[in-house]
Amino acid sequence: MENTANQQKISYDHPDAIGEIRNIILDTGRSKDALIAVLKKVADRFGYISNIAVQEISRQTSISAAEIFSVATFYRMLPTTQRGRHVIEFCESLPCHVVGGRELYRALVDQLGVQAGETSADGRFTLLTTSCLGVCEVGPVLSIDNNIHGNLSAESLAEILAKYG
Ligand code: FES
Repeated sequence: MENTANQQKISYDHPDAIGEIRNIILDTGRSKDALIAVLKKVADRFGYISNIAVQEISRQTSISAAEIFSVATFYRMLPTTQRGRHVIEFCESLPCHVVGGRELYRALVDQLGVQAGETSADGRFTLLTTSCLGVCEVGPVLSIDNNIHGNLSAESLAEILAKYG
């Protein structure tokens, strides 16, 4: 099977959705050891892990839906709600906070009209917070779709966001 991260995402409403989930399990394995890899591939393929996916994985692997949910919600990299087209991860650790992170966060919340964990009404951005991204020397920092943007200010923020349609 093609790498799910490089495939175009499909919707859970797609007629082949259940078949796709079954193929992922077939390729990846039915054991508990394979569960995280299965969930990651399902999230890559569909954008997030829905209740439909959890039920189908449970049927195919005999792992309870409750256990699958608890694994999915434990790992940040496994989204269980639909995300925006772009995912912003804002660094909320102290070194960024003291060099303008607090003002930047306020501007972000204002410009997107969301709080952390939410998706903007136009479906463009999901805002998440994270601890240190490892580039404190260019703080305050955020990443968008894993691209780091540093030395940001409330003023430069709009310019950066405009690059992500
Ligand atoms: S504290 Fe923000 S990147 Fe390290």
